[in-house]
Amino acid sequence: MKILSVVGARPQFVKLSPIADAAGRAGVEHVIVHTGQHYDPMLSDVFFTELGIPAPDVHLGVGSGSHGVQTGAMLSVLDAIIDEHRPDWVLVYGDTNSTLAAAVSAVKLHVPVAHLEAGLRSFNRMMPEEHNRVLTDHAADLLLAPTLVAAGHLADEGLSARTVVVGDVMTDVLYRVRDEVATRRSVLLDELGLEPGGYAVATIHRAENTDDPVRLRSIIEGLAAAELPVVLLAHPRLRARADVAGIDLDSGNLISHAPLAYHDLIAAVMASRGVVTDSGGLQKEAFLLRVPCTTIRTETEWVETVELGWNELVEDAADVPRLLARPRPAATDATPYGDGHAAERVISELSERAGPAR
Ligand code: UD1
Repeated sequence: MKILSVVGARPQFVKLSPIADAAGRAGVEHVIVHTGQHYDPMLSDVFFTELGIPAPDVHLGVGSGSHGVQTGAMLSVLDAIIDEHRPDWVLVYGDTNSTLAAAVSAVKLHVPVAHLEAGLRSFNRMMPEEHNRVLTDHAADLLLAPTLVAAGHLADEGLSARTVVVGDVMTDVLYRVRDEVATRRSVLLDELGLEPGGYAVATIHRAENTDDPVRLRSIIEGLAAAELPVVLLAHPRLRARADVAGIDLDSGNLISHAPLAYHDLIAAVMASRGVVTDSGGLQKEAFLLRVPCTTIRTETEWVETVELGWNELVEDAADVPRLLARPRPAATDATPYGDGHAAERVISELSERAGPAR
């Protein structure tokens, strides 16, 4: 069997890591295509190096642009690559513009497409990720759902015949890295002079939070007003928008810092009192590490984190200081995101269904 994975943005490199491992162990031929959506070394190369992912076989180098320009630039070159490799499966990940471009290219070439992390829904049609998810799920031949809730959404859209629940591959990599960093002190503690349990970790990058300067200012003010130091791991998009709007990312108790590599991020979260974020992945990582999370969004795709009491959604960032000071939620041993072996299941589902082209 031959799989061609298309990735381009930071969370996709994390998901690729356990898939590349499992493919290697199963002796599956695996071609990796990097679209170049993320190009900063701290958003891209560092993940390949430290998570042991083989270097991409093909790099498209598309870079930034409006959604149409970026997606179109990927589409215009993916046809030739998919046609050259003619894999049994094109595997697409998550909900970025790279996901949609690869799904559209493959389906039109009649090459089977599998969507990893299928069925997530925010039901917020203002989010670019929501368009990408819905369109990719409806184009794909095999929908690899991470949770029962995701499979339920696919069933509601008439897609249950193409759906299989495999668990969440982010759990696979998180458990591995958690064990690797368990005895390692977070680099942030020494660099910033922080105490374990005495600070929070924050990330903000979503368009709906960064692109309106009034909204962005209110979020930064909310974080800065916390009673404990808040380390803001600033995505380049956030830094660019804050610079243009003249918003200081180092005010009050807020300390801005460059994005961290994956191991350092997990170590920093494990030693923190809480997480404040608008990232889907980090909400789940906080839950899996049992660190309380506050999510600056009106909804979440990862509803289990909220239902189990470990994640609070907040629209008005003025509530962040209060939520960071809330008591620790009740312990739970629930495992809505699988057992850490999702990637093996993905490879075996793909192998079972691989065959002559449709
Ligand atoms: C993308 C995904 C989002 C995912 C996020 C993870 C889409 C629609 N969004 O958002 O779902 O959660 O990745 O980080 O695909 N930039 C750089 N260097 C880079 C990459 C981006 O400076 O390496 C800057 C550019 O100014 C760019 C902006 O960040 O215009 C936005 O980047 P883009 O890849 O378009 O979207 P993200 O916000 O990263």
